[in-house]
Amino acid sequence: MRCKSMVGMCRGTVREGSHCEIFEPIRESLLSWYDEHARDLPWRREGDPYRIWLSEVMLQQTQVETVIPYYARFLEAYPTLAALAAASEEDVLKLWEGLGYYARARRFLAAVQEVQARHGGQVPSDPGTFRSLSGVGPYTAAAVLSIAYGIRLAAVDGNVSRVVSRVFCLEGDPRKAPGKKGIRCRADDMLDPRGPGDFNQALMDLGASLCTPRNPSCGDCPLEPFCLAHKRGRIHAIPPRKRQKSRPLEEVTVAVVIRGKRCLVRKRPRGGLLGGLWEFATVIPGVLCAEQVSLGEQLGVLDHSFSHLRWRVSVYWSDIVGAPPQCPPWRWVTGAELVLLPFPAVYRPVIEAVRRRLDPGWSGPL
Ligand code: ADE
Repeated sequence: MRCKSMVGMCRGTVREGSHCEIFEPIRESLLSWYDEHARDLPWRREGDPYRIWLSEVMLQQTQVETVIPYYARFLEAYPTLAALAAASEEDVLKLWEGLGYYARARRFLAAVQEVQARHGGQVPSDPGTFRSLSGVGPYTAAAVLSIAYGIRLAAVDGNVSRVVSRVFCLEGDPRKAPGKKGIRCRADDMLDPRGPGDFNQALMDLGASLCTPRNPSCGDCPLEPFCLAHKRGRIHAIPPRKRQKSRPLEEVTVAVVIRGKRCLVRKRPRGGLLGGLWEFATVIPGVLCAEQVSLGEQLGVLDHSFSHLRWRVSVYWSDIVGAPPQCPPWRWVTGAELVLLPFPAVYRPVIEAVRRRLDPGWSGPL
């Protein structure tokens, strides 16, 4: 797709394909900056499409610094696509514990299993085929295929979208369809067809380091000479700021029930928040109602923030009134079993306390 306005801007200077002259100096300037300033990130030392794909899945909604140790541990456990394809969802979620957005891990595992079963273990390089896999959206497809296979697709994430909006002074809201379309159009045209992977990553780095949302360092920016928002004094207005939505606070009551050498836990339903992870008995209608538990001494209060919601979790040593649940999704686990199950990160201190209570000789770490 070509942008009408760009074709207009390039009139008389179009050479071939996207080799429009106005883009060449932008590409050169960006790529020589990248040669000098590219971040040395573990996935940039990789040629294996599976490893590059894993990095892109982990980097969705998550900071580079947070991802680095998870990436290393994950690849230690599953160095190849074939190794991951043979893994259980529970073990994969355990390695993902604390990284958040657990549905992406489940979808990634399903996609990898499909690649192993239907594509002989080779990550497909055809965009349509790759896009058909579970969890692979336009951004992930473009990032993985451009970096791993040199396919000419522009990867437009939040950082890239901000850089592109500013360079072309696009006033539209990047979260709405018309704004998005304008950005995508410019990004496609700007992409360097000779090295799309490096070009995409150069834009990501520029957005992460210089062209930041609040205090961009325009003086150091390789694209400053071309930047229309800078020229027009619109840098701080583009892209328009998202209105901060307040995140509702949910009070959660958790009952830690111990019988003998075992603790009662429950697997959360797959579809919802923290789907597929385990938790302690939670006092909410539909799980356990207040009449079914007798809360004892308080173990602690924990706060946790999700992107759309906050939790205040009050945890009590407790007992069950009447017959305790015995079948899935409930399970009675020993201390050693407990620490192998994937739990939401907020419960880490509770798991430690339970493990110590079940096995007084145990001295961690988890
Ligand atoms: N964010 C998403 N993908 C990235 C990459 N390949 N390098 C740096 N930051 C990223």
